[in-house]
Amino acid sequence: MSTPSRTASTAPAARASARDPADDDRRDHDPEAGPLARGRFPAAFRFGAATAAYQIEGAVRVGGRGLSIWDRYSHTPGKVADDDTGDVACDHHARWAADLDLLVELGLDAYRFSIAWPRLYPAGRGALEPRGLAFYERLVDGCLERGLEPVATLYHWDLPDALERRGGWRSRDTAHAFADYAAAVGTRLGDRVKRIATFNEPWCSSVLGHLHGVHAPGHRDLDETLAVIHHQHLAHGLGVQAMRAARGDLELGIVLNAHAVYPVDDRDENIRAAQRFDAFHNGAFLEPLFDGRYPAELVAALGERMPAEFEADCPTIRQPLDWWGLNYYKPTRTGDAPGTDWPMAEERDEGVELPRTDIGWEVEPVAFTTLLVDLHARHALPPCHVTENGACYNDVPDARGVVDDAARIRYLDGHLAALADALDAGVDVRGYFAWSLLDNFEWAEGYRMRFGLVHVDYGTQARTIKASGHWYRDFVEGARGPD
Ligand code: FCB
Repeated sequence: MSTPSRTASTAPAARASARDPADDDRRDHDPEAGPLARGRFPAAFRFGAATAAYQIEGAVRVGGRGLSIWDRYSHTPGKVADDDTGDVACDHHARWAADLDLLVELGLDAYRFSIAWPRLYPAGRGALEPRGLAFYERLVDGCLERGLEPVATLYHWDLPDALERRGGWRSRDTAHAFADYAAAVGTRLGDRVKRIATFNEPWCSSVLGHLHGVHAPGHRDLDETLAVIHHQHLAHGLGVQAMRAARGDLELGIVLNAHAVYPVDDRDENIRAAQRFDAFHNGAFLEPLFDGRYPAELVAALGERMPAEFEADCPTIRQPLDWWGLNYYKPTRTGDAPGTDWPMAEERDEGVELPRTDIGWEVEPVAFTTLLVDLHARHALPPCHVTENGACYNDVPDARGVVDDAARIRYLDGHLAALADALDAGVDVRGYFAWSLLDNFEWAEGYRMRFGLVHVDYGTQARTIKASGHWYRDFVEGARGPD
C-alpha cells in the first residue's frame, strides 16, 4: 500500500536527494525586499483566496443540513487527529459577512468557496432545503456587494451520508443525483455565480477515501476505487450537461490536484515507477476528462475491474470546459513498490532534503512551473486558474498579537514567481487563489495544521490577519503590469 500523501512525513533524511535545492537560487530571496513576481501578471489576472464548506462552516445541524460522510468519518474515533470534527470549525455559517470583509481587507478580486451538498439536499436528493439555499444566496450576494467574484465548487468531499448509505460513489446512481444537484445550483444561483467547478480534487475523494482509507468514507478497496473514479467522472460530465441546460452563460470547470511526479532517486526502477505513477494517477483523471479515454496502461492492467460501461461513458465525461483548476502544493516523489497492484508505484520521499512545511510537504516552486508547462503541452486544456496554493505553518499570535509567518511569505513569494514563469512560458493561466483564507479543519489532520492567511483562535473565533495576509495584499496591489 502506498504512503498516503496527506500525512505528515516522518521519513528520515537518509540519502542524498536526486535534486539539489541549491539549483533554485530564488530560495535565498528575501520577500521583504519586494515580491519576486511584482508586475509580472497581466492586467486582467484575478487574485483570490479559497476555502471549503466542511472545513470552515460548522453549524452542521443548522438550517436543516443533512449529515455528510465527513461528519460520520470525523465522529469515528481515531480517524482524525485529536478526534477533531467540523461541528464548529470556523463558525463561518454565522460569521460569513465578517469573513467576506476580510477578503476585501486583503484587497482580493475573488472568493472560491464550496457548496455543501447536504445543506441543499439533506438526503442527497429530493426536496431542496430552502434554508440551505438561502445561506448560499446570502454569501453570494455578500460577495457581489463587496465587489468579489464568487467562484463555487459543488463537491469538496462532503457527500450526503444518505447517499453513502445507498452505495455512495460506488453506485452509478450517485452520478445522477449529483447532476440534479448541479442543475439546481445552476438554476438557483447561476444568475449570480458564473464560475463553477464540479469537483475539487477527485483524486483525493476516490484514492484517499477508497484506496488508502485516510479520508471519508475510509475504505481500502481497489475495485471500489476504480468505480468511484469512474462515477465521479460521469457525475462531472452529467453535471456539466445539466448546468449548461439550466443556463447558457456559466463558466464551468473542474479542479484537479495533478501530481508533479519525480522519481525518489535516479535508479532505473524508480524512474519507471514515476512514469507509471504519472500514467495512472494523473492519466486516470486528465485523460478521460480532456482526451475522452482512460490511459492505455490503466485499461490494460485493470480494465476488467472497471465498471462495465466505462468506455461507453467516455464521450459524456469529456465535456468542453471553459477552464480548469490546478491545486498545487508540492511535488510527488515515487519509487518502485513490488507487490502493489495499483499503481505498482509508491509515494516515497526518503532522503529528499528540500525544505518542508509543518505538515511535512516539500517546498519546490520549480515543480509548479514544470507541471503547468508540461500538462498544457500534453493535454488539450482550457485556460487554467490556480485554485489552491499555499503552505502549512502553524504560527500563532505572539505577545503583541502578531502572527509572524515569514516561512509562508517565502513560500507564496516563490510559488507566485514560479507561476509568473509559467505565464512567460506561454501557459494560459487567468487566476490564482491562495489556500486558505482562514486556518481551518484540515481533514484527517484536524485543526492542528494551519494553512490560513488569517489565524483563527478556535476558542474565541477571533480572526487575526497574519503577516502573510498583509504581504499578499501588498503583493496583489503591485502584481499586475499594464499588460
Ligand atoms: C487540498 C484540499 C484543501 C486543503 C488543502 C491543504 O488538497 O483541496 O481542502 O485541505 O489541500
